[in-house]
Amino acid sequence: MAQNSKELISQPLAESRWGLHGKRVLIAVSAGVAAYKTCILVRDLMRAGANIKIVMTEAARAFVSAETFQALSGEPVYTDLWDDRISNRMAHIELGRWADAIMIAPASADVMARLAHGICNDLLSTLCLARPRDRCLLLIAPAMNKEMWSHPATQRNAATLAKDGTIFLGPDRGDQACGETGDGRMLEPEDLLQALEHALSPKLLAGRHCLITAGPTFEAIDPVRGITNRSSGKMGFAIARAASQAGALVQLIAGPVCLASPWQVQRTDVVSAIDMKLAVDRAIDSLPSDKVKHAIFISVAAVADWRPAEIASQKIKKQHGESTPSLRFVENPDILASVAARSPRPFCVGFAAESEMLHQYGEAKRKKKNIPLLAANIGHETFGQDLNQLLLLDERGSESLPLATKEKLAQQFIEAIASRLT
Ligand code: C5P
Repeated sequence: MAQNSKELISQPLAESRWGLHGKRVLIAVSAGVAAYKTCILVRDLMRAGANIKIVMTEAARAFVSAETFQALSGEPVYTDLWDDRISNRMAHIELGRWADAIMIAPASADVMARLAHGICNDLLSTLCLARPRDRCLLLIAPAMNKEMWSHPATQRNAATLAKDGTIFLGPDRGDQACGETGDGRMLEPEDLLQALEHALSPKLLAGRHCLITAGPTFEAIDPVRGITNRSSGKMGFAIARAASQAGALVQLIAGPVCLASPWQVQRTDVVSAIDMKLAVDRAIDSLPSDKVKHAIFISVAAVADWRPAEIASQKIKKQHGESTPSLRFVENPDILASVAARSPRPFCVGFAAESEMLHQYGEAKRKKKNIPLLAANIGHETFGQDLNQLLLLDERGSESLPLATKEKLAQQFIEAIASRLT
């Protein structure tokens, strides 16, 4: 695993950005201090393998120069409705035809007002109106002072644009360049990147409910101690992100991990295996039964097999000269097996962390838990790492997903699940 792992991790994000690699993204910049964040967004989009073109309004150039964006994207920046670098001098038509998506970031109150009313008085507004709406998405990341954002005129314009099919990203709440605090900050570049990727990813799980457990569990011994394992949650979170990008409504039940929630994933944090089981049962019970059989349960969590039989209410004190405390354990419920035993039941997918004989042990586990699909991996090689390799096992046989980033594997895994759904 060590030989090419460095190379795999340092590859451009291209491999792991499902919805962005090879996509044609037009970034439209209007006036706002937040334009500096758009520079980072453009750099990250380039690293993710997207093809970029940039359009700027005249006012935007008071904040960041066209030369900066040109250097970052390696492409000429378009500012003029009559740009003669486009042979037919119809930049507003050609650029819209070229793009899979237009993202306006930052979007000023003025740009929103013009778009909401179909006013075409510069390149940006004209190309948004002229774009082929059936195949070119329009995403808007507003950035403005909180009074401007909350003004009824801006809110009316935002509602009109949303009704016309525009995807709104933010704004966020927080400190503003004008010194105030409130709604109106542009989302951070990583959020915009995730949202764009989300919008452009193939919708293999459109409308499906997907429940995912991830991370370790922590089984308390006393108020300050407990037992856990080295699962980082990275694989489960990557799968949650990929499922959400694929159009599923994702609920992620996470043990104690230090990871940010993926875009548009509903997350519940739990500590112990018992908490995790309660959260899983609650999530499935809240679905109507006709939805349950179309749902997917992916059990990625490294659930502790046992927990201490009693949790001491006070810290167990070290007694000099006395024997060390001995712990008695009881078995935790098997969450995956209990979900698989339901009727109706979701499409159940398990994981097996083994140290050897992946095929044999994994297949035995799949049959024992009575689930249609299981991913086996070498536990001690992958816990906490950014890379992994999986052996998928189902009734038809096995399929290897070779060493790759967990993000890329997660996308392949979602494709594998989608292909097995009826
Ligand atoms: O039996 P084993 O722990 O190896 O099975 C692993 C699979 O079962 C994983 O999918 C894990 O999330 C799930 N599991 C569970 N509840 C447990 C133990 C494991 O859901 N108590």
